[in-house]
Amino acid sequence: EKIAVLYGGNSAEREISLKSGRAVYQALINSQHDAELIDTRETSPLLLKQMGFQKAFIALHGRGGEDGVIQGVLEYLALPYTGSRVLGSALAMDKIRSKQVWLSCGLPTAQYVRVTPNQKIDYAQIFTRLGDILFVKPAREGSSIGMSRVDSPDQLESAVANAFEFDQDVLIEQFINGPEYTVSILDGQALPVISMQPERVFYDYEAKYLSNSTQYHCPCGLSAEDEKQVQELALQAYSALDASGWGRVDLMRAEDGTFYLLEANTIPGMTEKSLVPMAAKAAGISFEQLVSRILATAK
Ligand code: DAL
Ligand code: MG
Repeated sequence: EKIAVLYGGNSAEREISLKSGRAVYQALINSQHDAELIDTRETSPLLLKQMGFQKAFIALHGRGGEDGVIQGVLEYLALPYTGSRVLGSALAMDKIRSKQVWLSCGLPTAQYVRVTPNQKIDYAQIFTRLGDILFVKPAREGSSIGMSRVDSPDQLESAVANAFEFDQDVLIEQFINGPEYTVSILDGQALPVISMQPERVFYDYEAKYLSNSTQYHCPCGLSAEDEKQVQELALQAYSALDASGWGRVDLMRAEDGTFYLLEANTIPGMTEKSLVPMAAKAAGISFEQLVSRILATAK
């Protein structure tokens, strides 16, 4: 069985995907699979079937690869692929629509305002309404690209302008002041929770991929009961978006102990600094085993 490891692509997260793809490819080769790396920027995924591939392992991050587009192409080709289907991928990529779905299901997520270009935005009013610290995010990006933390009303306009560079749909979100947690999901089950403690002002691109000072805790320090609760919440949030197979849900815990959903990632990073491999390891699942189990989600 010939497996295409789809990686690279055109998104802002291309560099991360190149690393994830190479790590996945190596793990597949180590476990005796017949795999090949395919950079979707160079090779059209429309050719995969005629190139003799029977399965696709999607290691693409961000737009075009994680948002339902490539999933739709693979559906059209009837080529089995790993992870979430078209709808779950599209919903999870979009932070605004994810929040709308979660709120409609009664799942907790921080308050927010959606803004689009050409709209008259009352920054002072938004700041007053949402609180002292806000986050501005492009709706459909990953790895914190285009995101900023805003501590005063006069920073808000330029933060929104910066986010518009990445997406025409932007959210301004209330900051939940608490530690960040992440729940990795494999085959409908939650792996051990990780807590992240960046030394930087937030867990941004630098803290995620470049810094050595970000601290990861697994065990995450929550009581067994709280860990179970956050795992349950993550599983519910993931299936509410129709996301499936494997992935990762990020949350913040407020000072009063309430967890708030931040976002779901249907193709989370698989680099050596990435969180899903870290959680898998804590559950006694090696990187090779993890990759084989993700491959088994292909249908
Ligand atoms: N968007 C990055 C790859 C992640 O969630 O790990
Ligand atoms: Mg993300």
